[in-house]
Amino acid sequence: MIPRQIVDEIVYRNDIEQVIGSYVTLKRAGSNYNGLCPFHSERTPSFTVFPSTHSFYCFGCGAGGDAISFMMRIENLEYVDAVRVLAQRIGVDIPEEDEQNGGASSVTRKRVLQMNLEAAKFFRDQLMNETYGKEALHYLTVERGLSMATVRRFGLGYSPNNAWLLTNHLRSLGFTDDEMVTGFLCGRSQKTGRLYDYFRNRVIFPIIDTAGNVVAFGGRVMDDSKPKYLNTSDTPAFKKSRHLFALNYAKNNAAEQMLLCEGYMDVIALHAAGFENAVATLGTAITPEQARIFAKYTKKVVITYDSDSAGQTASDKAMRLLGEVGVDVRVLKLEGAKDPDEFIKKFGADAFRDMLRDSKSGFAYRVDKVLMGHDISVPEEKIKASSAICAIIAASSSAVEREVHIAYAAERLGLTPQVLAGDVSRIRSKMRREQKKKLSNDAQMQLKGLNDHVNRDAAKHIKASAAEEAVLGLMLVFEQLRHVAAEGLDGLSAEDFSTEFGRRVFQTLCELEKSDGGYSKALLAQFFTVDELGRLEQIEQTRRSYSKNDIEVLRVNIANLKEEKGRDTRDVMSILELKRQKANQMKQKKNEK
Ligand code: GTP
Ligand code: MN
Repeated sequence: MIPRQIVDEIVYRNDIEQVIGSYVTLKRAGSNYNGLCPFHSERTPSFTVFPSTHSFYCFGCGAGGDAISFMMRIENLEYVDAVRVLAQRIGVDIPEEDEQNGGASSVTRKRVLQMNLEAAKFFRDQLMNETYGKEALHYLTVERGLSMATVRRFGLGYSPNNAWLLTNHLRSLGFTDDEMVTGFLCGRSQKTGRLYDYFRNRVIFPIIDTAGNVVAFGGRVMDDSKPKYLNTSDTPAFKKSRHLFALNYAKNNAAEQMLLCEGYMDVIALHAAGFENAVATLGTAITPEQARIFAKYTKKVVITYDSDSAGQTASDKAMRLLGEVGVDVRVLKLEGAKDPDEFIKKFGADAFRDMLRDSKSGFAYRVDKVLMGHDISVPEEKIKASSAICAIIAASSSAVEREVHIAYAAERLGLTPQVLAGDVSRIRSKMRREQKKKLSNDAQMQLKGLNDHVNRDAAKHIKASAAEEAVLGLMLVFEQLRHVAAEGLDGLSAEDFSTEFGRRVFQTLCELEKSDGGYSKALLAQFFTVDELGRLEQIEQTRRSYSKNDIEVLRVNIANLKEEKGRDTRDVMSILELKRQKANQMKQKKNEK
């Protein structure tokens, strides 16, 4: 556990607008900042940073909290790791924990990275070893056509066909069994409990992060046996959803555009042919985190997936995720080869460069895909194709974009732009109507609490949960009220809370308040999920904006809590009542201002 004073210091000394500013483009709005929320896709900013309270909140998706919970959410980190990253930003060093608690089952990121580096050297040495590595080197250089320079540049290696070589080697360097298993370099035999090398008789592709750490490995068989690849699973030093193969090199050549491929070998072949901006995901479809990495480094991504149908389906997903983070997406359709590696071998780098130049915008690609599925010389087919294409165009929210797309589609379909424009605008008004309907449905659902995934009991206890939020909000904002509430003002106790979430928040606040160091917002992220932290931020913001530090308000809400305890308010009357209350609250809020 990191000492509380240090955590406070770290949160205090990290300007939240700077922490968040390195992920989100922020614009000043009075004393706050606005930007596009990095946690859901939106076109108008509803994400706000409040420097005065060191917090952020998104009015669109409910994400919120302080700098710690922001880091947890955006980098998918545990509390301690988020604090550590923030500490590094301000040059504070937090000692690793393993030395302190004997390292029983807490294998640290640092140890895994040290071990990976040793393993990478070991694999490389095996590949270069005249006896052991001969066949693997032949595979890489002759069968796959890589130069020795490329083999070295990517630090490729070989894991011999022996179950204990690496295990013994790492052990001799002082790594524990626990570290080797957690680091995914060794497996443990179910029968004997003995460790064995995880990668055997495979060529090895080290995965290196942008800081130069070896974070994981991929290993390929040299024949047709299965599985073709083994990859490191998640370890304390690696989450495969958050890394891209060869990003360590590609990031330096990414300003203009990046290439996204499926496989390690594609990336390596592309780099060797001079396309040093190629990366690949690690044996999975692209994730939102990976899409954000692209957005950080480049403006444009060309998807160069395999030409088989699996590759094409994966392209659709990649197009969507990359579009959501605002990068310009193009799709390259390979012809005459199954993947970029094979294409370059067959036709050469120049031919690939030509293909790249002709790569289609995501839009044109989708239009062409529709056209391929329909024979537009048949009237019915032409109608189907054009309505599918109009639907694609209608989804774009930019009028200029729609006009450009309409012109393109009109030409491909052999129709006039006016006709298509008419259809597109009809689809758009229908979409607007549906959205309105959906919005009011959503509002109603929210009112009933049915959509409340954070506080699932809220639907059953509408009035009680409103009172709970009032009490908790006052406790979060006002030190003095937190103190008296934790001391049991008017007999208040955890039993008075009707919802599990409210009770748990209350208990945590009380425990922190009564602990040696006292309450600090910076400690909350240890006890709640990022969604719950967003809710806490919302509760706090609400109280901050319209409550005074008034003990009578607290008392009234405690009384409401006790009165509502256990009462099931899932009926129409209470919903109408709640509506009235909400309206009154709004009025009151206006009057206060
Ligand atoms: P080559 O056949 O050597 O050209 O491989 P490739 O890199 O072109 O791979 P392929 O297109 O077959 O697969 C793309 C990526 O998916 C690979 O680079 C791996 O990351 C992953 N992959 C492929 N096969 C497997 C498998 O059997 N298991 C796992 N976990 N991942 C795989
Ligand atoms: Mn391939």
